[in-house]
Parts: sequence; structure tokens; C-alpha cells
Amino acid sequence: MGYTREEPVERTSLFNHLETMPGDPIFGLMTQYAKDPAEFKASLTIGVYRDEEGKPWVLPTVKKVEKMIAEDAATNHEYLPMEGLPAFVKAAQDLLFGNPSAALSSRIGSLQTISGTGAVHLGARFLNDSLHPKRIWVSDPTWGNHHAIFDIAAPEVEQKLYPYYDAETCSLNFSGMMKTLEEEAQAGDLILLHACAHNPTGIDPTKEQWKQIADLCEKKKLFPFFDSAYQGFASGDVDEDAWAVRHFISRGTLELVVAQSFSKNFGLYGQRVGAFHIVAGDEQARDKALSHLIYLQRAEISNPPVYGARIVAWILQTPELKAEWEQDLLIMSGRIKTMRAALYAELQKLQTPGSWEHIVNQNGMFSYTGLSEKQVLALRKEHIYLLTSGRASISGLNRDNVALVAKAIDKVVRASGDAPAPAITA
Ligand SMILES: Cc1ncc(COP(=O)(O)O)c(C=O)c1O
Repeated sequence: MGYTREEPVERTSLFNHLETMPGDPIFGLMTQYAKDPAEFKASLTIGVYRDEEGKPWVLPTVKKVEKMIAEDAATNHEYLPMEGLPAFVKAAQDLLFGNPSAALSSRIGSLQTISGTGAVHLGARFLNDSLHPKRIWVSDPTWGNHHAIFDIAAPEVEQKLYPYYDAETCSLNFSGMMKTLEEEAQAGDLILLHACAHNPTGIDPTKEQWKQIADLCEKKKLFPFFDSAYQGFASGDVDEDAWAVRHFISRGTLELVVAQSFSKNFGLYGQRVGAFHIVAGDEQARDKALSHLIYLQRAEISNPPVYGARIVAWILQTPELKAEWEQDLLIMSGRIKTMRAALYAELQKLQTPGSWEHIVNQNGMFSYTGLSEKQVLALRKEHIYLLTSGRASISGLNRDNVALVAKAIDKVVRASGDAPAPAITA
């Protein structure tokens, strides 16, 4: 028999003073999309790869290795060391730094993290505690979670924006970026840089521009924090997509950190596979930094999850499997490029007002379409979902929906009388 209170209980809570936090706009839109009963609908919201049928794609190489792992008598579910699976950590370093020399290796400290998000978080907290920076410069715009992560992991660090996107031309505002950093950044500030396939704009600096950014970091003593979430996924070539990080290191003058994700390039979104790397000035500093990172890791997650890391390590350390995975990467990056071209061609065919070349010139998972919030909201009435910033996840397009999506864009652009990138159209 359960105990029942006789007198009514007056319910109250210590938490009623809390204000409700806003939900994540991307996950909110996914729910809205899922509930939309329309026969034709398209989701260009979250940054996940979709195949021609609009379905999630388990990479064939990953599938193959999962079978091998299941059949391997040595597989167990023991705890990993705090710094992660050693074979994975080594493979992650080799992939990012391009098989670093012994001298460089002695300056690199790495540990496995809860994917790219966990790596950014760990890095934010570590740099906050070790360097006590006053400011971090982030691109305007940047991946929304960068702001939230620094808010919670490094609340004392002021977040400053450097110009990045030129809305007039839907391209990089490089001169604005350099001018602001040149005039306002101070020695010791952090600067967050997207290693490739900038999220949300899909716009990356050229190699020449990267060199100038590295010059500026040297000259102004800014500390680079690279976020590498799309290596190999952007161009289809892992070395090309790591060029900026490797260039900064090749100068020999800069210490830096990198947050690395394996969500997109291995399609292992839910397995949370990532790594955090520090490239320190010398081996002694590396060892000290690593000891602090391991201390933080122990307190935050004890040790990282094993399954996805095992898949990545197995593939990257087996030359034939690595070659097969590189083909998988080409399939993903190639399909996205094809869809960029298809959307552009459809808009050209419809003679949609505005200039749309930026869709093919941008890179990686996303396009900053230049569509206004009003146009994006009008598109939702047509059952096409993208972010109010105008960011579209291109892999949500496929042969069956691209013409219909273009038609809907054409309709809302004409109805609103506003065209993206009007400067180019003129
Ligand atoms: C720029 C950027 N950094 C980091 C991440 C982190 O992804 P994950 O935590 O899934 O590895 C993402 C994912 O969208 C991203 O776009």
C-alpha cells in the first residue's frame, strides 16, 4: 500500500525563477518539417549528408568495418584511456597534420573528444584557464553553437565579431575582416577560424588570403583556434581541406589549437567522434598543456566513447580501407557539387531575378543563399525549410526535388521584389 498525504500539497519549486531558454532553431525546424503533412516538402536545414533518395547514408567503408569489428574476437567494451583510443588519436593527427615529422609530432598534444562540439568546448575551457584571453574574435556569422560554447566554457572571454560575409555580393568580405582585426584586435586575443567549408556561409578564404591572415596573427600575436569540421568533405581531398591549418603550422612561429570532427566526413554524427589538438612551441609546453587537458577531460567526461573511434582508426590505419573511404568522400562532396550546379541551372532556366553564381562558388555543406528572412518564411509556406539566415543545407536537394525547390524560390523572389546579390545583377 502506498503512502498518501491527507492534506493537499502546495506545489512550488526552487526553479521557478528560471527564464525559459530559447530552443535550438535548427532542431526546432526539423520537428516542424517532420510534422508537415505536405506530400512535397524539402528539408535544407541541418548539416547532415543525405543521399539521392533524401535518406541518411552509412558510408560503405564504415559498414564494412562495423562488420569486422563485430566479428573481431578482441573487441570489448572496456574504458578507454582518458586521452582516448591511442590508434584513433594517432590517425586523427596524421589525417589533420599530414603525417607530421618527428620534430613536429613532439610539439603536438592530442586527445579524443565528444566530437567537434566537445573539442571546441574543451579548447574553450582550456584556453580560458591557461591563457586568460580577454577576447575571442569570431566570424560574423559563425556556427551558432560557437557563441553558446564560449558563453558556458569561457564566460569571461568577450566575444567580438569580425566581418566575414558581404551581403551585397554573397561573398567574402576579406578587406572588412582584415581591417577590423588590424585596427581592433589586441595581442593575446584568440581568433576562431573555420579550417574549410565555413559554416554557415560556405565561403572560404583563398590560399593567398589565408597567408595574409597568418601574417596578421603573427604580427598582432593573435592565437588561432581552428575548427575543422569538414576535412575531405568540402573538396573531396583531405589534404586540400587541411591546407590552411598546415600552412599556419609550416610558418614555425605560431602556436595554435584545432578542434576536429569526424561527424561529416565519416557520416558518424551520432557516434560523437572528434579530437582536440594543441601545437605548442616545444615538447615541454606540449606535455604540460596535455596534462591540463587530461585533467579537464577526467572531470568532464572521464574518458571518451570507443565505438566510433574504433571505426575511424580501423579505416585510417588500413591503406585499402582508407582509399575506399576517400572514394566515399568523393561521392558525398561530388553529389553536393552536382546539386549546387543543378539548383543554379534551374534558377537560370527560370530567369529568377538576382545573381545566383554564389551557389556554385560556395563550398562544402552549406550555401548562404542570400534569401531574406521574409523570403525564407514564404518558402516555408511552400513546404521548403531553410534557416531564416538564408542558409541552405545543399545535401537536402536531390534530382527529384531540385526543380521544385528552384520553382518555389523563383516564386517567392518574384513575389517579394527583392533579389539576392543585386550588386552583381546590375
Ligand atoms: C563549424 C562546425 N564546428 C563544429 C561542428 C560540430 O559538429 P559535431 O559535434 O557533430 O562534430 C559543426 C557541426 O555542424 C560545425 O558546423
